[in-house]
Parts: sequence; C-alpha cells; structure tokens
Amino acid sequence: MTGTGRGNGKTLLLGEHAVVYGMPAIAAGIRLGAVATAVRGDAFALRVGAHAGPELRAALEAAAGALGVGPHRVEVEASVPLGSGLGGSAAIGVAVARALLSAQGEAETPERVLTAAGAWEKVFHGNPSGVDAAAAYSGGCIYFTKAAGIEPLFVAVPLRLVVCLAGPPASTKEMVESVQRLGERRPDLLAKSLSGIESLVKNARLCIEAGDVRGLGQLMNYNQMLLSGMFLSTPEIERACAVARESGALGAKLTGAGGGGAVIALCEDTAPIEAALKSDGFSAFSTEIGASLQPGAEP
Ligand code: MEV
Repeated sequence: MTGTGRGNGKTLLLGEHAVVYGMPAIAAGIRLGAVATAVRGDAFALRVGAHAGPELRAALEAAAGALGVGPHRVEVEASVPLGSGLGGSAAIGVAVARALLSAQGEAETPERVLTAAGAWEKVFHGNPSGVDAAAAYSGGCIYFTKAAGIEPLFVAVPLRLVVCLAGPPASTKEMVESVQRLGERRPDLLAKSLSGIESLVKNARLCIEAGDVRGLGQLMNYNQMLLSGMFLSTPEIERACAVARESGALGAKLTGAGGGGAVIALCEDTAPIEAALKSDGFSAFSTEIGASLQPGAEP
C-alpha cells in the first residue's frame, strides 16, 4: 500500500533559540512545505529530490522506529528551501511520518506524528525544541513551549510577511551549539537575552490577538537586536533587515537558527518591500498568515 503525507514549512515570528531553553516561541506555517510518498520495501531508502545518503536513511529509520514500522522506500518533494530557517527538515520529518502511517492504513494522532518527527530531527540536530515539528504539523499560527506544546493562536488581522533569503544556509545544530557555548562563557548575557526574548514573545502574543501589527513589528525589531547580541546575525541578515525597514517594513528579523538563511519582514503592503529586497540582489517572496488551520491543511 502506498501512503502519502504533507508537512508545512514555517517561520518563527519570535522566540527562536530561547525556545530551546524552555521559553515560548511563536511560529506560523507557510504555504511551502514537503510531500512524502512511502511504499513498503526490503530496506530503508529515502530520496529528497535528487538527494539521498546515510544521514537521510538514518533519519527515516529513526522516524519509522518511533512508529514501530518496518522498512519502506520513501520519496520526498520539497518546495521549501532546505537549510534556510524555514523548517524544511521538520516539514520533511512530518511528511515522512504521515506517509509511513498512511502506508499502514493507520490514522494519525498528533502524538505519533510529533514523536516520529522529533526522532527524525534529532538525527540532524541533537537538541531540538520541537517547535519546527509542531509548526510543520499544525500550520496556522501557534504559541509553543517545550513544556506545554502547541497552543493555536487567534490571529486578529492577517500578518503580511516578506520572506527573504539572506545568504547561504547555516547548520541549525551548529547555531544551537554556538548559543550553548555562549551560555558557558557568558551565562549572565545568555540569561538576560533569554528573559528579554521571553517578554517580547509574551507581548507579541497580545499584539497578534489584538491586531496590533505595528506593535508586533517593533517587538520583532527588538528580538532581532537580542539575537544579534547572541552572535546569531550576519552582515547579510542585517543588510536585508535594513533594506526591508527602509522600504517600509514594520519590523524585520532573522527567522530560524540564524548565521545565514532567512529574514522575515512584517509589512502593511508587501509589494514595495519585496521589490526593494529583490533590487538589492536578495531572493524574496510574500506570504500571509491568517487564522489557525486544521492540522495538515495547506496554509
Ligand atoms: C530552528 O528553526 C529553531 C531553533 O530554536 C532550534 C529549535 O528550536 O529546535 C534555533
């Protein structure tokens, strides 16, 4: 029996990295994602577009192991750019978990999909908070903590974002480890940054629920300052944020692990900001975050 499944890409509106330390984060599904097709086979094999290899196979085995499922051949088509901070790995992990369950004719539950996607993610980065898998699973806009998991957020006014790719992708594992080393060298700095981010995320939740898009933009700018202070930004990310703000964005920040990858800009009208970023040499696209969606639905 052939099974198929989908996972969403995501943006982290606020709270990346702090979420690894138990703080809240706000994430939203984007329309780009991944679709997996699974068929039973003699051995585990996984292909993502033109890519295959031992790490992908190990991740497939980990996800299948978490579901108690035997060998399968799995093909994945990913529309989300990989390694850009847009949750490509988690989108594939969720798509694979869903496809494996569907190939058994088994109904999915959030627990089973998220446990399998978590096992998948651990192969690529040792200490995932689970926010990427949660957003890949849920779509819509979510408030997430490691302790409480997914809380769907009411989005009072649609959030218009320009997503811009600001430089070569960085490894999430390496960026998470760099924050860990910062905490060993400068525990005071890390503690202050984490508690600052926690306040920003809690206030951002209020802005999203009240439709205060300008307030949300300012909080995103402050979040970017704190992430830069944690050495997660790059000159390209700072340039993309500056271009976006100068052309009218309400707020701009890196999204995901940083060190390269994607920047998001919150806008009243995305067209001039997307155009300004493109004319500065960045690749960019626009997306809109509305109310929460049914699990697995296309955002
Ligand atoms: C990566 O998209 C988000 C990080 O916070 C890592 C994680 O939460 O697992 C950097």
